Amino acid sequence: MKTRPLKIAMSRLFMESPEAVLSGEFIAGALSISRQSVWRIVQELVDEGFAIETLPQKGYRLLSAPLYDLAPSHLGARLLRDCPWGGDIAVHDSLPSTQEEAKRLGRSGETDGLVVIAEEQTRGRGRRDRSWVSPKGTGLYFSVYFRPKLYPGALQLVNLAAGLAVMEGVERSLGVALSLKWPNDLLLRGKKICGILSEASSDSEVIRDCCTGIGLNIAPPEAKIAREGLENAAYLAASVDEVDRGALVAAILPLFAGYVAELVTNAAAVLSRYRLACDTLGRLVTVHTDGEIFRGTAVEIGSSGELVLALGDERRAFYAADVVHATPAATTEQDGERE
Ligand code: BTN
Repeated sequence: MKTRPLKIAMSRLFMESPEAVLSGEFIAGALSISRQSVWRIVQELVDEGFAIETLPQKGYRLLSAPLYDLAPSHLGARLLRDCPWGGDIAVHDSLPSTQEEAKRLGRSGETDGLVVIAEEQTRGRGRRDRSWVSPKGTGLYFSVYFRPKLYPGALQLVNLAAGLAVMEGVERSLGVALSLKWPNDLLLRGKKICGILSEASSDSEVIRDCCTGIGLNIAPPEAKIAREGLENAAYLAASVDEVDRGALVAAILPLFAGYVAELVTNAAAVLSRYRLACDTLGRLVTVHTDGEIFRGTAVEIGSSGELVLALGDERRAFYAADVVHATPAATTEQDGERE
């Protein structure tokens, strides 16, 4: 199932006047399309699960929105009007990885802020070449493809912004407070509930395009499905009875798009917000890089988004690593060691 700006605009018209009969002429005028196109798009919306009554000589009336929480036009209509992303949304039953599909689609056109969602991924990818097992019925898996006007070194800032957006989007949409572990893992009561992967292609001066994938755990998979780190995973279903994944995407996207735009004009403001939200700062942590493990206190997030650790008298910056929180927040312990 997929949607495009016109379908979203029409579903928004219906959603804004749920009881009203909208004449074909009115819709055609509002969207600057022909009456024939109105009829065709109404049929497409019906195929997507909207119940729309056709009243001969009068027009169309919305009876109900789709029951499926990821119906793409409904999702698009729930986005803030001024959200620059989400004009094109594709929802798949199964994909190897939403990352690959979003990049393929994004690079074959001109769109910015294209969204690809899958019910399951058969080759979901995590950070540092790990896999992200993504079985059906257990999560929200989506990628957004965009073209930020940023220099290549800013990819880490995009990563931090994504973490911030998901944290705030989940809180806004479901009222569930998550904590943010550097760079962008989201935790619920200390266990990982969401992973984020940002990839970019750049030339020497600018990022050409960027693709950020978000995997949010909703319910535990069947016991027979194993995933590295699954024993340390958390699920939204433990905190809320029902998760409307469309509402989640609609809450996260405008926040993320807003932060990416702000990175271009005022990266320091985004960083300040991130530093306030990041639960890693002030903690005694273990940092795992390729082949080395460091233990120290997280004292700073630098201007490029790097994590600065106090290792005894020495300070060391990390740009990509796995972090394990070892103590409650706001520790005063300053000792560090290297294993
Ligand atoms: C991590 O290792 O923490 C990052 C996990 C990112 C998983 C998401 S799910 C949607 C998108 N598609 C993928 O293949 N990976 C990302």
